[in-house]
Amino acid sequence: MPIISAPQDFHEDELFVDLRELYGWPLYLKCEGFNFAGSVKMKAAGSMIDAAERAGVLDRDSILVESSSGNLGLALSMICAARGYRFVCVVDSRTNLTTRQAIESLGGEVHLITEASGPGGFLGARLEHVRRLVAADPRHVWLNQHANADNWKAHYRTTAPAIHRQFPGLRVLFVGAGTTGTLMGCARYFKNVVGSRVTVVGVDSVGSVTFGGRPGPRMIPGLGAGVRPPIFDPRFVDDVVSVHEADTVRTCHRLARSGFLFGGSTGTVVTGALRWLDRHHPGEDVPAVAISPDLGDRYLDTIYRTAWVQDIYGLDECAAARSAGADAVTPGVN
Ligand SMILES: Cc1ncc(COP(=O)(O)O)c(C=O)c1O
Repeated sequence: MPIISAPQDFHEDELFVDLRELYGWPLYLKCEGFNFAGSVKMKAAGSMIDAAERAGVLDRDSILVESSSGNLGLALSMICAARGYRFVCVVDSRTNLTTRQAIESLGGEVHLITEASGPGGFLGARLEHVRRLVAADPRHVWLNQHANADNWKAHYRTTAPAIHRQFPGLRVLFVGAGTTGTLMGCARYFKNVVGSRVTVVGVDSVGSVTFGGRPGPRMIPGLGAGVRPPIFDPRFVDDVVSVHEADTVRTCHRLARSGFLFGGSTGTVVTGALRWLDRHHPGEDVPAVAISPDLGDRYLDTIYRTAWVQDIYGLDECAAARSAGADAVTPGVN
């Protein structure tokens, strides 16, 4: 029985959903949404704050500032509340309203960026705002999840070994790329500790520049970046799949109709994984794991709302999403 006294002390690291019955592939979904912040970002938040405290960077007057699509901000606001730090979270208009409200309920201050800036898009604009805050007040401390090695180290220490323990014969690992903290931590672990028999595949959103793609509009927070994250090191990643957001929405709806309400990036990662397996191992039984960053309750106003799907992706995508529970998702087409 886990008994804790701080929110970041609990994380369910041993839960996998078997997708074989739904999709016909031996694909296991590692669920990272079962902690108080409801997402994979609790690990990065705890790791970066602990390291900053050890380095003596934080004191009682410090005000943490961070750019976030929402989930890291929520995790940081919990830990800051528990440890008595002030926290300013710089989000943009794609961040879910409930996440912004939760950050404020936990005592954080939310700065909302409503205009994208140049080729860096919303992320570029958020980073500019953080830089201005840091320059204006020496109490501001920016942990900078995009450049902070303690982001990926959290996954090197926890997520990857948890997968390795459960799947010692793993052949393929699919990881979504936002800051690439999860991807780099897991990829480094499997390459350094396990060796080359595990193929590590990054999954990105179309419109993200991380793997060299052209910048484009993206509405689902979490995966993808308008500015390549400094912690990203392509040498550890074997392949990449880029997924259109409309396909993400279809997969989320299909998973939901089977009883699993997952977040947007889970839809992206599952779509990319099925497509990659179909292309590289058609009909083969290859042990594969995909990482699910969060659950779906924060996306009820977006991915799971008909009007939003219609507005953003058009009528056809909406109809496809609604019928996704009944239609088989064909790997390679999705
Ligand atoms: C929902 C969700 N999915 C995926 C990611 C990407 O994780 P990482 O930043 O470790 O690449 C994030 C990061 O914010 C996220 O919030």
